[in-house]
Amino acid sequence: MEEHKLNNFNNFSTVLHPKQKKHVPYSCNVPSRTILINTLGHCYVCRCISWLPVVVGNVFSFNSFEEILNSPAALAVQQDVSNHQFSKCDVTKCGIMIRDDLQPEDMYSIILDIDNSCNLVCPSCRSEKILITEGPRFKRQQQLANHVQMLINNCDKQMKLSLLPGGEPFVSALTRDIIKNYKHRDNISIQLQTNGLLLKKQLMKNLVFFNDIYLLQISLDAGNKATYERVRPPGKWEDIIENLDFVKEVADLTTQIVSLNFILQRNNIDSLPEFVTICNNYGFRGEISRISDWGITNFHEYDVLNVNHAYYQKALDIVSDSIDNYDKNNLMTVLF
Ligand SMILES: C[S@@+](CC[C@H](N)C(=O)[O-])C[C@H]1O[C@@H](n2cnc3c(N)ncnc32)[C@H](O)[C@@H]1O
Ligand code: SF4
Ligand code: SF4
Repeated sequence: MEEHKLNNFNNFSTVLHPKQKKHVPYSCNVPSRTILINTLGHCYVCRCISWLPVVVGNVFSFNSFEEILNSPAALAVQQDVSNHQFSKCDVTKCGIMIRDDLQPEDMYSIILDIDNSCNLVCPSCRSEKILITEGPRFKRQQQLANHVQMLINNCDKQMKLSLLPGGEPFVSALTRDIIKNYKHRDNISIQLQTNGLLLKKQLMKNLVFFNDIYLLQISLDAGNKATYERVRPPGKWEDIIENLDFVKEVADLTTQIVSLNFILQRNNIDSLPEFVTICNNYGFRGEISRISDWGITNFHEYDVLNVNHAYYQKALDIVSDSIDNYDKNNLMTVLF
């Protein structure tokens, strides 16, 4: 099955006036099911802090996920979104302009963004290496991880657990502990996004954790060696390919969904066709998204999907051609 969103591209490039938000025809129940916890222990009720930058409280003030979702600030956001006000929502980015976002009634989505540590320094993400393994900050984050672990252990509700969207789960000492000590629970399924370079080495340490992953997202951001090593330094192409081969072998034995991700930018657009070929060859799902401004210098030079960028039309053509070449038996998502 294929899922093309190109026609909606222009909607996603617009900044909306609050009055226009009222005309968003789609519905969202994300704030009553979702909790994102960041490195400071701040709790948010959407999948992405920049989409809905409202802190509903600090996790240390709460003894259960229910308490977070029923806090006065969370209830106010839920009401605002269910009334289609979207007052604080960046509806041009989150996808609500093109579809409903209705999560299952009895399922929580818990997103742990508690450590930015990583082995790579991708220029789109950061300008210097971040690796926190000791000191007062690390101790605070450890307390945070312990508190969150307690909340998870005390929760019997069905839960999708997503680990570390802002760092590397196989490098962070905190998530490595969570992964190493993980014991199967019937109510938990795991979504893991990773740069993939340590997948084979780390997952072999606890296959129980691996078996509970329902969605494994591997960020590739490239289709060949030169591009990969430019956008994912100091990662090596041979290492990522070795890990993809490993995942292919084990994923064929399980029901896991494997997705290769590509954040489109000036430095990788030319390798998109080869990325699509890689998705086809492995039989993995593909996901292409637009780069966001995470505070990098000269962001506008990277953002080829800005209508004012010199490569804008070329970028659209490459995306369209690449999608046409995608194996239609797999799912390709384009999120602009
Ligand atoms: C921040 S990383 C964290 C997880 C893991 N380290 C990884 O690379 O998959 C999550 C995703 O953000 C993407 N990313 C990096 N820079 C970005 C940017 N400026 N805008 C949007 N996504 C970006 C990465 O390519 C990756 O797919
Ligand atoms: S409308 Fe968008 S930003 Fe607002 S809660 Fe839903 S997904 Fe998040
Ligand atoms: S691997 Fe992920 S967390 Fe690490 S620098 Fe790259 S995008 Fe950021």
